[in-house]
Amino acid sequence: MEYITLKNSDLLVSRLCIGGCPMGGYGWGEVLEQELIEAVHTALEHGVTFFDTADTYGLGQSEITLGKALGKHRAEVVIADKFGVKVGPNGTTYDNSPEYLQQALDASLKRLGTDYIDLYQVHYRDGVTPLEIVADTMEGLRKAGKIRYFGLSNLHSQDFAELGALKGEFVSVQDEYSLACRKNEDDLNILRDDFDLTPLTWGSLGQGILTGKYNNSTTFAANDRRSRDIYVNFHGEKMQKNLEIVEAMKPIAAAHGKPLSAVAIRFILDHLKDSVVLVGAKRPAQVLGNIEGCDWQLSPEEQTRLDQVSA
Ligand SMILES: NC(=O)c1ccc[n+]([C@@H]2O[C@H](COP(=O)([O-])OP(=O)(O)OC[C@H]3O[C@@H](n4cnc5c(N)ncnc54)[C@H](OP(=O)(O)O)[C@@H]3O)[C@@H](O)[C@H]2O)c1
Repeated sequence: MEYITLKNSDLLVSRLCIGGCPMGGYGWGEVLEQELIEAVHTALEHGVTFFDTADTYGLGQSEITLGKALGKHRAEVVIADKFGVKVGPNGTTYDNSPEYLQQALDASLKRLGTDYIDLYQVHYRDGVTPLEIVADTMEGLRKAGKIRYFGLSNLHSQDFAELGALKGEFVSVQDEYSLACRKNEDDLNILRDDFDLTPLTWGSLGQGILTGKYNNSTTFAANDRRSRDIYVNFHGEKMQKNLEIVEAMKPIAAAHGKPLSAVAIRFILDHLKDSVVLVGAKRPAQVLGNIEGCDWQLSPEEQTRLDQVSA
């Protein structure tokens, strides 16, 4: 396993992080709790020490399952959790206010069955609360021992001015990034280099399209979010482009005796400097396929080929 210390922190984490979205048991097709728990155990056995979740994933179910799976191993790992998105009867709203932050954190701690969260992140900004207020609230909770560090997610150039004054306070930033989604690459590089935030990539397998198992005949069940058009990786022109990228990945995977998922992960680890790759996994075999992304190298020619086909 490869490890990295998150910027401005002493959080040493594996560069592969298990994403908790499928653990929510909602909107990802069929998932079985026992397989999810075994997936976490497989990750632990292979040196993965970083686990990401959010209070919205399955409306708390992801945190419950993760806490249950980690059990006595909790102190050995780094848990990243998120707040700020509220799902209610009237749809989705966003809230980063100090009152809601403290309330959301207490609820998450309870569901995880722990008394601290290592990395507490703003899932999405609410468009109202200044980042300075969020940082001050987080700092108070850090002093109270409820969180160790705090991070951000889904931030872009319009947030840079506010971030300037807060350099060194937040330690990380999540955004979508993969061979199927390069649009945030410049922002992530700037956020790392100019604002001192470690990039954590989500959708790293393009929600599964980069594993090579989906094609034009694929249909998703209604209980799978990828059936919806907004999951662009599986629809229209974007799907065709992704299938072209998959074809370019195949000879590279074969040359190294690796699954395609490993090539998708390796590209991020090599191309996005000092990053951590978040990958959702439903069962142990998927975790094993993703661990294969670590501890090897793409040749410069392979990197160039992947860079060009996905540009
Ligand atoms: N900050 C944010 O706003 C944000 C947003 C989204 C996600 N995230 C985080 O980032 C994590 C990763 O993103 P994601 O889960 O959305 O997408 P992803 O990691 O790109 O794709 C995950 C899906 O790919 C399939 N898969 C995983 N490993 C596989 C393997 N080795 N072989 C074949 N199929 C495999 C599984 O679904 P199937 O088997 O059904 O194909 C799995 O659910 C999330 O879990 C979450 O923790 C954060």
